[in-house]
Amino acid sequence: MAGNSRFIALLGKQIKTPIVLSSMAGVTDAAYVVERAEHAGVAFIGGYSIDEAARNASKEIEACGRKEFEASFEDIATELAMLEDCGIIPGLNLRGASKEAFLEAAGVFGKDIIYEIDAHCRQPPMVAAGCGEALLKDTERLCDIVSALAEAGCTVSVKTRAGIADDRALAKALWKAGAKIIHVDLMDFGASKLRQIRNSCPLVIIANNGVDSPDTMMEYFSHGADLVSLARRADPAVLTLLDRYIRAIADEVGWYNAPKQLCRGGDYRSLAFCCMPIKQCALLPTLNAIGLEYGAYTQLKEEAVAGTPLAEGSHTCFGSLAFCCKSSTPCMFRDMTLKSIKLPKNEYMALKRKLSEEIMDEIFR
Ligand SMILES: Cc1cc2nc3c(=O)[nH]c(=O)nc-3n(C[C@H](O)[C@H](O)[C@H](O)COP(=O)(O)O)c2cc1C
Ligand code: SF4
Ligand code: SF4
Repeated sequence: MAGNSRFIALLGKQIKTPIVLSSMAGVTDAAYVVERAEHAGVAFIGGYSIDEAARNASKEIEACGRKEFEASFEDIATELAMLEDCGIIPGLNLRGASKEAFLEAAGVFGKDIIYEIDAHCRQPPMVAAGCGEALLKDTERLCDIVSALAEAGCTVSVKTRAGIADDRALAKALWKAGAKIIHVDLMDFGASKLRQIRNSCPLVIIANNGVDSPDTMMEYFSHGADLVSLARRADPAVLTLLDRYIRAIADEVGWYNAPKQLCRGGDYRSLAFCCMPIKQCALLPTLNAIGLEYGAYTQLKEEAVAGTPLAEGSHTCFGSLAFCCKSSTPCMFRDMTLKSIKLPKNEYMALKRKLSEEIMDEIFR
């Protein structure tokens, strides 16, 4: 596969790798990012405190021995300027309590960065200031900030911590408010929580917590993450390993974050691999949950693949590759079809990815 279209685009640019540097207050500045830029696609510098309440909270936190940034808007602009030529999509992780503070920041830093609202910090002074995790308990205010930024033309990410709010309802509310990204610290909830979020919204999902190996990364990718992020283990050796691994998967498999089959715990994207059920299986309850009639599901798939190589496959179980399994599931009939139409397996999977995007568009239309 040519170029970088194998991953996703943010701020109108293809990211070079779906690995994100997650913010750490007092640590993640431009110099930290530049040192790791070769093997990351996106970076959130900060968190920076942007209103008086948050700045006072930062001082209190620092007095207790934790690192914090003390940066004016001018300082932050200087940091952003240092990221301009390093091939990274830049983001700012910001702590504040009011939409006015975020809008003021947006007025200064412009539209070529991602604005990440920190709804994650659980340090008591920050929460008492109405910032960080306090926003997860006041989703109306959080959504108000998201809407204000989105209406000002900004690309908005929300950094959340799983298990504080109703994560499904939160994801849906953020999407409706105009966010582009949900960046979720999954804590100990792991991939099952991620799957729930994937099935609740069409947001770009950055999965965070404990990513330190290809296995932990792939667990998140196969359950719905578009990107994964690292904070504590974001050392250059780990980033190099993960970046090389995921680029190789993207080329070899053709769909870097392909879901598991639905009957093995896959999220809604895996409907791209579902067949026409001939026994009791997970498909019908899933279609019921989505509110998609079985006939509409088959029609959707047939129409989505019309005129593409996935419409081939008269010798497969259901007469079309649209209903065929994932390439990792062994099948002589599918493979014979692929061979006869000269479609490499990675291109088959890239077409399945496109089909899944059309299915997700329909679900969240
Ligand atoms: C020292 C430290 C500071 C952090 N500061 C922030 C912050 O300012 N904003 C934020 O959204 N998350 C912050 N985090 C959370 C991390 O971005 C990340 O969500 C968390 O460490 C879990 O990911 P990991 O397992 O890759 O470390 C901080 C984490 C650490 C360890
Ligand atoms: S339709 Fe096929 S792939 Fe989908 S859940 Fe049922 S048996 Fe599994
Ligand atoms: S032909 Fe093979 S890949 Fe296609 S649906 Fe049947 S078992 Fe699955």
